[in-house]
Amino acid sequence: MLKTEGKTDTPLRGDYSAMRADYTIEQGWEKYTDEEHALWRQLYERQTALLPRYAAPEYLECLGRLNAADGIPDFRRATEVVHKATGWELVAVPGLIDENAFFTHLSERRFPVTNWLRTPEEMDYLVEPDVFHDFFGHVPLLIHPVFADYMQAYGKGGLRAMKLGTMENLTRLYWYMVEFGLLNTKDGLKAYGAGILSSAGETVYCIESPEPNRIGFDLERVMRTKYRIDDYQETYFVLESYEQLFDATSQDFGPIYERLRGLPDFAATEVLPDDKVYTRGTGRKRAA
Ligand code: PHE
Ligand code: FE
Repeated sequence: MLKTEGKTDTPLRGDYSAMRADYTIEQGWEKYTDEEHALWRQLYERQTALLPRYAAPEYLECLGRLNAADGIPDFRRATEVVHKATGWELVAVPGLIDENAFFTHLSERRFPVTNWLRTPEEMDYLVEPDVFHDFFGHVPLLIHPVFADYMQAYGKGGLRAMKLGTMENLTRLYWYMVEFGLLNTKDGLKAYGAGILSSAGETVYCIESPEPNRIGFDLERVMRTKYRIDDYQETYFVLESYEQLFDATSQDFGPIYERLRGLPDFAATEVLPDDKVYTRGTGRKRAA
């Protein structure tokens, strides 16, 4: 996960004291308690009951290959599977880390995974990403060749955007496509984003609810669109394929960043005349 993900003012809860210079730590797999493994199984079973209906088929296939149903996975063993498929490695981190360190890891095909698990009270919602979000949400698609390449390219793009001062535009791409992306399939819209698939509520909401907009992916449109971190998304962007994302982002972003500098942002609720609209939302009803 990334430092800006779910930005809060509260102090971070992981143990940062034993961190190496690259922000990694030992996972400490032996130290998880039986209760933590049981909570993982509960989270895993709840999600996998929903997923056949709501998740993208590639994600499901990759998740199965990780054999992660029995308890919090040992990152060393999961790395064997992922590395064989696409050359990615998992590294343990205490939680949200420095942007530069995060992008450096991605650019070298290492995915930072938080080592701690939420508490039972946080089954449905937590402020910072934990091992369930990071592993269950993000790791499966690292086995997918195109998505694996995309994540590395994103890491390189992140290092570049830091230098150019264009992180805000690039972060929206991560948010809408890596965390909350939908895929158009022959069986209708399916979810592949990590923020969706690690949340029982949003897994159903993003597909079933009449409230949000669902709009076809367009690179600059996404890079201009604000998002919310404190509630379900008001707009989801839809890919036709992972190749579409990879291809659209292979071009040089230099001129795009230049152009976007002079253009206004879009609100998370907005639908534009040029949008390819899958569904126009009725708008999010909020508790009074
Ligand atoms: N092509 C982008 C650039 O020139 C890098 C990038 C790749 C960004 C993939 C996001 C995703 O900066
Ligand atoms: Fe995430």
